Amino acid sequence: MPSATVTEAILNRKSVRVFKDAPVSKALMTEILQLAAKSASGSNLQPWKIYALTGSDKDQLIQLVQERAMSNPLGEEADIPIYPEVLEDPWNSRRKACGEVMYEALGITREDKMGRLGQVFKNFEFFGAPVGLIVTMDRSLSQTQLIDVGMILQNIQLLARERGLDTCVQASWTMWPKTVREVLAIGDNEMVVAGASLGYADTNAKVNHIVQARMEDEECFYLRGFSI
Ligand SMILES: Cc1cc2nc3c(=O)[nH]c(=O)nc-3n(C[C@H](O)[C@H](O)[C@H](O)COP(=O)(O)O)c2cc1C
Repeated sequence: MPSATVTEAILNRKSVRVFKDAPVSKALMTEILQLAAKSASGSNLQPWKIYALTGSDKDQLIQLVQERAMSNPLGEEADIPIYPEVLEDPWNSRRKACGEVMYEALGITREDKMGRLGQVFKNFEFFGAPVGLIVTMDRSLSQTQLIDVGMILQNIQLLARERGLDTCVQASWTMWPKTVREVLAIGDNEMVVAGASLGYADTNAKVNHIVQARMEDEECFYLRGFSI
């Protein structure tokens, strides 16, 4: 039985974008998903559906998206837009800073537009991970249910870490909802909420070692009324 404290799993987790060519078994994937599903959800709605793809099932999705991305690099109409039409500051600055740290580690300059596009396209290969996750939620549900989906995704990330696996959650998969539904043979009622890559990190890749900044406490925590 693997064991890491929650603190250890949180501290050891970071987004990984280069994976080793090492498979993940169905038993291990099932264990992670079953444990992750112990997550809380509002009124216990458990609004998520999670498709864990490997082998030819994953390859089929990758191939079709890559093909379509050639002629349509902006993707399809998302069920849920990744960002608002205008991303205001401080969020826009954080988004830029996040990209800069990643592209620097990858050795891709600001001017290298093709290099940057190439990295975006790697999202649609699940960064070479053995498992690609697609998370959907029924269209009839409300925004609050997205909190539940985020919670199970976080559980998956921490349980993966506890087992020596790494992950990268990917909103980028929301760019291809129609193609995802076509390949998974699922109904239009299922919105594509997120994707994620899961597998064993290639620790030699510099991009897997970047540390993304966090806000100062004063910017986001407001402790009021504490006396001890
Ligand atoms: C909801 C969500 C969507 C994300 N989408 C992407 C994505 O499409 N591509 C990507 O490379 N990273 C993506 N990430 C990873 C974030 O960039 C990363 O979590 C953030 O920069 C903090 O870095 P860390 O995860 O290494 O701590 C996403 C993370 C979350 C939580």
